[in-house]
Amino acid sequence: MEYRVVRPFPAAQSRQDEAPSLNLTRRMRRNRKAEWSRRLVRETRLSTDDLIWPIFLTDSAEARTPVAWMPGVDRLNIDEAVRQAAEAAALGIPAIAPFPFVDKGLRDPTGSEAVNAGNLMCRAVRAIKREIPEIGIICDAALDPYTSHGHDGVMDGERILNDASVAILVRQALALAEAGADVIAPSDMMDGRVGAIRAALDGEGHEEVQIMAYAAKYASAFYGPFRDAIGTNATLIGDKRTYQMDPANSDEAIAEVALDLEEGADMVMIKPGLPYLDVVARVKDHFRVPTFAYQVSGEYAMLTAAAQNGWLDGEKAMLESLTAFKRAGADGVLTYFAPRAAKMLKAAC
Ligand code: PBG
Repeated sequence: MEYRVVRPFPAAQSRQDEAPSLNLTRRMRRNRKAEWSRRLVRETRLSTDDLIWPIFLTDSAEARTPVAWMPGVDRLNIDEAVRQAAEAAALGIPAIAPFPFVDKGLRDPTGSEAVNAGNLMCRAVRAIKREIPEIGIICDAALDPYTSHGHDGVMDGERILNDASVAILVRQALALAEAGADVIAPSDMMDGRVGAIRAALDGEGHEEVQIMAYAAKYASAFYGPFRDAIGTNATLIGDKRTYQMDPANSDEAIAEVALDLEEGADMVMIKPGLPYLDVVARVKDHFRVPTFAYQVSGEYAMLTAAAQNGWLDGEKAMLESLTAFKRAGADGVLTYFAPRAAKMLKAAC
């Protein structure tokens, strides 16, 4: 059906105070006239069920240490992480995604601490699973928190070695699964890692552990504050463009997602978030599988900094941005705003 506007423009000679005569069959504003009506015609809805909360861990006597580049976000020691997981569960947040700030003395060129069953991540996962078994725990598989050079894999000179890195990532994933991780989220962008991790998990009796692949992860400037949070900003040598994707590419994201699904990914992720909503929409339309987006540290920092300056209404901008992910087709969002958003959504009920 085609809607036609008869005489859409007022006649040029009409006087200012004279209402132009419009004959509009379809007035788009009618459905927007009141809150009850806007609620009725709303197409997407953000819910607490859509939220995954990334948290930062540290070995410290202090419960919390602030992350300078992410106001409002703290690194948590294990006891505090357990308390925060309990709070997240009480708010109805389905899952958390912990990331470690690893002591500099434990970092080396091969990231060997990543495969230590007693490392900070594994101890935290055990503690959280013991106390709050109902919350999902999604654990990154990547070496950057553990390597002295800050890369996600191991190096030979300037090169990041693919297959040698995958072999270590597999051992890291197994250590995390043994500790009780519910989901392994390979964020390293090595080729073939999803299939290798899947086979190893299945071989060790972890066939129920899910894989959420960072399938289309771009070499982005928006990860800056995260690297402050886990202490890799000072150590990172060069950049990650030989393994993370070129921000100019979108067809390539389809190929990456297709491969990760073939290799056994249960869920896929696009990262960063808002600047890549076109990729989220394309991936969801194309594959129709559980698709997630990561509203990364730089996005959090931008919104928070503007809100702190009074340049944005922080809460409105936060909810609008999270709703935009849903509208684009995401099934859920990893966001540092998760507890704040969950509290607001609860209050609105
Ligand atoms: C590590 C990893 C990164 C992020 C998640 N996992 C950083 C990177 O690739 O350099 C970024 C998250 C964020 O910026 O919030 N592989």
